[in-house]
Amino acid sequence: MTQDELKQAVARAAISHVVDGDIVGVGTGSTANFFIDELALIKHRIKGAVASSEGTAERLAAHGIEVFDLNEVTSLSVYIDGADEIDATGAMIKGGGAALTREKIVASVATKFVCIADGSKLVEVLGAFALPVEVIPMARTVVAQHLAALGGTPRLRVRDGRALLTDNGNVIIDVAGLKITDPLALEAAINAIVGVVTVGLFAQRGADVALLGTADGVRTLTF
Ligand code: A5P
Repeated sequence: MTQDELKQAVARAAISHVVDGDIVGVGTGSTANFFIDELALIKHRIKGAVASSEGTAERLAAHGIEVFDLNEVTSLSVYIDGADEIDATGAMIKGGGAALTREKIVASVATKFVCIADGSKLVEVLGAFALPVEVIPMARTVVAQHLAALGGTPRLRVRDGRALLTDNGNVIIDVAGLKITDPLALEAAINAIVGVVTVGLFAQRGADVALLGTADGVRTLTF
């Protein structure tokens, strides 16, 4: 099976977590895009969706799925999204697609977080994937110094020769070389750095369920 086929398989499996008549929290990235395409097939069963990025909102709308502002919503039964890495406790690194802040906000409202990913994303220790941190642009140098002091190698994310800007107008610093043995503590430490908007460590609010695509089928982990 190709990686795309694995992503499609978990996207399809995630539909069983969608609650009829509800608004669904929807993540960002290539796996989430497969999920949106599956959601479109059952759109008559849901009220709509809350999007975690402009890109996701556009894809949902293109499928005719109503997109709600999170401010109009009091609760979400489920948030479904991919991950860059996930460990055996359900802690994740996210933000490879630069949508970490809105992802964390939408996930915080949901009763259940379902992570959908190909099996290669399951790791013993988080950190081989450089940890994304969204930062207020004027603070990027001072925040990078703090991140280096935590033991990582920070690098400003650049696209087409300039700093990539998130949907919120901020920059991303990717921190390589971390071995994240205590995700909860590191999430709290990075959150405490002035100038940090969001760290792409999802430990405090990790996944409740992971659907992982493997050659033998979809493997389900519950945390
Ligand atoms: C987006 O900012 C990310 O958190 C994605 O959820 C993550 O990068 C996984 O993306 P893929 O599904 O494209 O691997």
